[in-house]
Amino acid sequence: MSVQTKPRRWDPVVKLTHWSIALAVLANAIVTEEGSAAHVWVGYALASILGLRLLWGLVGPAEARFSAFPPSPRKALAHVSEIRARTASEHASHNPLGALMVYAIWSCLLVIIGTGIAMAGLPGADERQDEGGRAAYAASLVDVAQGRDEEADIGAEQAEHAEEEGEHEEGPLTEVHEVAANLLYLLILLHIAGVVFETRRSGRQVVLAMLPGRR
Ligand code: HEM
Ligand code: HEM
Repeated sequence: MSVQTKPRRWDPVVKLTHWSIALAVLANAIVTEEGSAAHVWVGYALASILGLRLLWGLVGPAEARFSAFPPSPRKALAHVSEIRARTASEHASHNPLGALMVYAIWSCLLVIIGTGIAMAGLPGADERQDEGGRAAYAASLVDVAQGRDEEADIGAEQAEHAEEEGEHEEGPLTEVHEVAANLLYLLILLHIAGVVFETRRSGRQVVLAMLPGRR
């Protein structure tokens, strides 16, 4: 097997965003209470850091740009053949298999962030939401008072109301948020396994290249 010892180059923005994203994901997966204020604020921070990284993919240095690691199943398959042939070519950015993983992780994060913000609202929207919540509660009281005799109607209205509320709190958004979070955990395990595998295979210190001070 050809051995590459030349370290990959990652600029400080890629390194900083990588470890902050990892920290934020760990925090929301293990530390913060689901749906708590801390969870949501870590979520907003995560959204900003990912936003910065994605912007960097357009304007950052060559190896950080999307153009350096396009998502290409064809190249990923060629890379698998290379692994089986026990050869290792050099990549200035993520290898084609790693690139697919990076886009999968980012997509998952975007779904989690999108559903999270759809449930929690944008920062500063708390007051507006509280007012909305009070109005909805008052409206539901009126509904109940008006339809006290007609139990079937109350049931239907409440079901309808719960469905509307659910769009913001308990319903499909929560489901998608949770499924995407579980998928993300799986991708992260595969990602770390991939990093370990690539380190052994290529002889490159793949992780050191992601740490501060190594360029
Ligand atoms: C919550 C945990 C993690 C997430 C969400 C995550 C996500 C990512 C993402 C999105 C990238 C692409 C970086 C970019 O181009 O901006 C990446 C790269 C990388 N990650 Fe992670 N990561 C996590 C944990 C880890 C851990 C624990 C390690 C160390 C074992 C690690 C090592 C690396 C390395 C070495 C790369 C560069 C791979 C390459 O050279 O192509 N990651 N990770
Ligand atoms: C990668 C980061 C994240 C992970 C791993 C994560 C994970 C979770 C999990 C497992 C739940 C419980 C779902 C359930 O009740 O079945 C949850 C709930 C929630 N998350 Fe996240 N989350 C993340 C990011 C975010 C973000 C970015 C936001 C918004 C800014 C957010 C807002 C919420 C809210 C509001 C709930 C409560 C949902 C409910 O119980 O109705 N999360 N999160």
